[in-house]
Amino acid sequence: MIPSILLGTANIPNNGGELRLTQRENDFSIHLKGVRGELMNSRRYSSELALAELGCTHIKGVDNSKVLVGGLGMGFTLAAALKAVSTSSQVIVAELVPEVIEWNKGPLGDCAGRPLEDSRTLVHLGDVAELFQAKQTAFDAVLLDVDNGPEGFTHADNNNLYSIDSLHAIRQTLRSGGVLAVWSAWHDPKFTQQLKKAHFKVDTKTVRAHKGKGSRHTIYLAKK
Ligand SMILES: C[S@@+](CC[C@H](N)C(=O)[O-])C[C@H]1O[C@@H](n2cnc3c(N)ncnc32)[C@H](O)[C@@H]1O
Repeated sequence: MIPSILLGTANIPNNGGELRLTQRENDFSIHLKGVRGELMNSRRYSSELALAELGCTHIKGVDNSKVLVGGLGMGFTLAAALKAVSTSSQVIVAELVPEVIEWNKGPLGDCAGRPLEDSRTLVHLGDVAELFQAKQTAFDAVLLDVDNGPEGFTHADNNNLYSIDSLHAIRQTLRSGGVLAVWSAWHDPKFTQQLKKAHFKVDTKTVRAHKGKGSRHTIYLAKK
């Protein structure tokens, strides 16, 4: 088997452990050191695209829409959001780990067509949760893919993101009719209930990992 080459390492803030970027032939992987697992692989990205396509359906062709993507990963969701919105729109991408942004400025950026270079992209370096604290109406869509599902995986602090208080705060940052879309590797009916408790209208979609094949992932679509 062809070995992976280690391209970079990064410390996840708040003692979250080590994030690693590796390459095997043309495929890249961002994963947590040890047995904790993979966050993103460049071979499978259909459901990451679907997160943005489904989460932005309601703003197709709408002028001056504003979308928040958390986090950057390999940029597939960001690229799909930019494709889904109008030329006058803005897409903010929040990324916790500075090195992930640097990796996307290097060869990794080719995977999704260098969405960081789009003039509509604005980068927020930090925890996506910071952008919900003001509780001010700001976004037409919030697209969350920071863990592998609605529980802290990248670091334990992310558990708070899916709490009822956080979901209320996210709802407050959405404009009327706005959508919170959450990517998950599994279907969790308890999270649907949690979204409903936060007064969202909830729909879930099952999407395949890559081009109609592979694992089944869930996209939660929660409408204000
Ligand atoms: C699964 S990857 C995202 C994959 C991305 N959807 C794509 O299309 O490539 C998760 C990303 O979220 C970042 N992240 C994790 N927790 C975060 C947080 N609380 N705020 C912002 N970014 C976060 C990770 O560093 C990683 O880059």
